[in-house]
Amino acid sequence: MTSPRKRTPVSTEGHMGRADDHPGRCDREYRRRRDALAARADNHAVGAPYPGVEYTEDEHRTWRTVHDALLPNHRAHACRPVLDTLADTEIPADGVPQHADITPGLTARTGFALTLAGGVVPNERFLGSMEHGYFHAVQFVRHPAVPLYTPEPDVLHDVFGHGIHLSSPRIAELYRMFGRAANRVRTDEALDILSRVYWYTLEFGLVSESGAPKAFGAALLSSYGEIGAHDGREVRELDACATAGTQYRISSYQPVLFAARSFSHLEDTIGTFCTEFDDDTGRRLGLPALRRNRD
Ligand SMILES: [Fe+2]
Repeated sequence: MTSPRKRTPVSTEGHMGRADDHPGRCDREYRRRRDALAARADNHAVGAPYPGVEYTEDEHRTWRTVHDALLPNHRAHACRPVLDTLADTEIPADGVPQHADITPGLTARTGFALTLAGGVVPNERFLGSMEHGYFHAVQFVRHPAVPLYTPEPDVLHDVFGHGIHLSSPRIAELYRMFGRAANRVRTDEALDILSRVYWYTLEFGLVSESGAPKAFGAALLSSYGEIGAHDGREVRELDACATAGTQYRISSYQPVLFAARSFSHLEDTIGTFCTEFDDDTGRRLGLPALRRNRD
C-alpha cells in the first residue's frame, strides 16, 4: 500500500488537465458568466428547486462539439456496464439540457436527482448527499476555445459522466454506498480518506474486460483526452486500501489509475470498504492524521 506524504485536497470534484494555461483563466467575459452561474448555488439547500439557465448559442455549440466527439469514444473505450446504460439512455445532441430535463430520467431509473453546485463542494456535503439520492451538479459550460478539455467539472462532465452513472441502478448504488459511509464518520480526516477511494473509482476508475482496462469513472467518460489515454499511465489492480493511501491531482492528469478485475470486483471492493468504513479506518490502514474533527 502506498501511504500519502502530503495532505489531500478537500474536494472530490475538479479534474482533467492543466488549469494554469487554460484560456478560461484570462477571458474576463467567460469568467463573469461562469462565476455568475456558480454564484446561484450560494445558500442553495440540497434538494430545493432552482431556476434553469438561458444558454447562449456558443454554449450550445460547445455541447454539440463535445457530444459528437465523446460518443464514438465511449463506444471504443467505455466498459460494458456504461455501454449498456448508454444504449438505454438518451443524451440530448442539440444543446445544453437543463438540470430539470435530466433529473426526471435519473429519478425514474435510480431515484437520484441533481442538486445545484457552484463548483467545489465540501466532502461532507458532496458525498453525504449521495445517501439521500442527491448529486451536486454545476450549470456552467467549459470555455469554447478548448471544448474537448476542461480544468474543472462543468455541466458536460456532470451529464456525460455522473449522469450516465446515475442512470444505472447498479452504479447508482455505489454512490449511495459512499454517501452512507460519509454520513457515518465525524472527522475530516475520514472524509479525506473516503474521497480518495471515491476519486480512484467513481471518477477515474477502470474496469478490465478481456484483460484490457476500459473506462468507468465519470471524469474519464466526460474527457475526450482521457477516456482512452491510460496507456501511458501506471495502471494498478484496484485495491481499496491502496486508493485510500494514494494522493490525487485535481487539475492535471492522474499518473496512476486503478483497474478492477471486473465490474463485480469494483462493486465488491467499494461495498466492503464503505460498509466497514469508520473514523478509525485511517489508523487501521496506517494513514497519517490529516484533519481536525469536524465539530
Ligand atoms: Fe465528477
